[in-house]
Amino acid sequence: MSEPTFTPRVFSGMQPSGGLTLGNYLGAMKRWVDMQDAGGFETVYCMVDLHAITAKLLDPDVLRNNTRELCAGFIAAGIDPEKSILINQSQVPEHAQLAWIFNCIARMGWMGRMTQWKDKAGKNAEAASLGLFAYPALMAADILVYHATHVPVGEDQKQHLELTRDIAAKFNHDYGVEFFPITEPVIEGVATRVMNLQDGTKKMSKSDPSDKTRINLTDDADAIAKKIRKAKTDPDPLPEVVGGLETRPEARNLVNIYAALAETTPQAVLDAHSGAMFGHFKMALADLAVEKLAPISTEMKRLMNDPAEIDAILGRGAERAREITVPILERTYDIVGMLRS
Ligand code: TRP
Repeated sequence: MSEPTFTPRVFSGMQPSGGLTLGNYLGAMKRWVDMQDAGGFETVYCMVDLHAITAKLLDPDVLRNNTRELCAGFIAAGIDPEKSILINQSQVPEHAQLAWIFNCIARMGWMGRMTQWKDKAGKNAEAASLGLFAYPALMAADILVYHATHVPVGEDQKQHLELTRDIAAKFNHDYGVEFFPITEPVIEGVATRVMNLQDGTKKMSKSDPSDKTRINLTDDADAIAKKIRKAKTDPDPLPEVVGGLETRPEARNLVNIYAALAETTPQAVLDAHSGAMFGHFKMALADLAVEKLAPISTEMKRLMNDPAEIDAILGRGAERAREITVPILERTYDIVGMLRS
């Protein structure tokens, strides 16, 4: 029997947990936009609000606001709701419906081995929600309810994607079908990992108590320039080759950020700036960052002032999504033996 061929389709998701940084932009959103614009793929991008309540319940207004803010961030970053299908997870009910089937495919042992479950549940797993334990099965459903073939994610999500492949393979095997694709992870490279501006050994994080450590996508031009000028560096000039950055995490971070924003390589940045002192380089980086990021923050603010526009975009996104997900869920139920009327 020949292998079925699946439409090349990208799916990725992000939690509406409030606050977006340069790290989210360069590490995820910008790569999603590149895949959208490259052609050759259908692209589906999702705010995962159902996942956002697994660790703890949120204030309902906070969750709604975070979801709209994330949607505004996606659009401002270049995700075009005409080119991509842009959705909020709970508005496409087939995600949760397929997740139930996958809860019955995945084994307790598989789930218990997930490092993110172990980290997040901590010592008191008894007090963690059942939803936190089942998180990766819902994530598998997010992906497979579109028959997505490629999933761009950070390194920390690799294990969840392996589980997604295991769930697809077990479903196909147990029912003797070749229905779900075995999805390819597209793992984020180290080059796009944005580090903390005051400590280059830590990831840039929206939850760090100090705002100086990060650039928020809502920062205006002044704030962006100021944070870059005040970023920690060392007294040495920029080296000639990237190897010279190995033991200089803060210096390396700024060079990497420059390269990512300019869409070039760290070596090309050094070719242009080697020998310069960081005081000087930071001015060039501040100009570049303001040029690329200030329009994003302006557009985000405009959209946030128009929640009705955001809600209309998500309503339309859900309709388009369901043209794909309803038939796939119907077929799944049929394979499993659920009566269809
Ligand atoms: N778990 C992912 C994260 O925290 C978010 C996510 C949910 C996701 N469903 C997904 C990512 C499906 C990719 C595909 O980053």
